[in-house]
Amino acid sequence: MEKNLINQKKKNAGIKGASLVEDKMMIGLGTGSTVFYLVEALAKRVKEENLNITAVATSSRTASLAEELGIKIKQLDEVDHLDLTIDGADEIDANFQGIKGGGAAHTLEKIVATASNRNVWIVDESKMVNELGAFPLPLEVVPYGSSKVYERLDSEGLNPKFRLDSKNQKVLTHYHNYIIDLHLGVIKHPHLLAQWLDHQVGILEHGLFLDTVNTVIVGKSDKAEVIP
Ligand code: 5RP
Repeated sequence: MEKNLINQKKKNAGIKGASLVEDKMMIGLGTGSTVFYLVEALAKRVKEENLNITAVATSSRTASLAEELGIKIKQLDEVDHLDLTIDGADEIDANFQGIKGGGAAHTLEKIVATASNRNVWIVDESKMVNELGAFPLPLEVVPYGSSKVYERLDSEGLNPKFRLDSKNQKVLTHYHNYIIDLHLGVIKHPHLLAQWLDHQVGILEHGLFLDTVNTVIVGKSDKAEVIP
């Protein structure tokens, strides 16, 4: 029941997100279960309204779903701009800063978000928090020397854990890197942490998405709220 309710909230956010797309737009598509509903709703609009849009996907999961449902997909380097990128998020704080990467796709998501003129996040209301950090912060880490990176993070008191799959194997990203999650509880100074992580050799990208998003769509049980 609870899961159904969360899915309904995600669906409401996804449908509202899809309503922002206009004919002839170049769209970035994020990754995750909320984006699933977005892609479904967008494909429906493309068919029913005969929209001519092109999309760039941040994961092979999203690309396959979109193509299967009839949305034209291109590689990021094949398009000259992106009008709008719509993605999910794991946490969004009161200042609209976010954590992403729960689906291990944050590096591609950050590249696409950075290339986009406008960024919209679609979330169920449980993702809205006062401060970031209860959700473990994902880092994409190059496998070579990753134990050394782990030790450095550990010695800084950042509580790192390699992300493992159901078979206890290290989770691999799109480019076969590892994910280390930082279990921080609370992140008091997201910009300082982001700056430090940006300078750590071996960390390809972290999941702090700061000053990135223009609009957040919060899915509730019976509607979706668009902020601002
Ligand atoms: C993937 C992400 C997702 O957008 C984030 O994990 C939210 O996923 P969901 O919509 O399934 O809750 O950052 O890397």
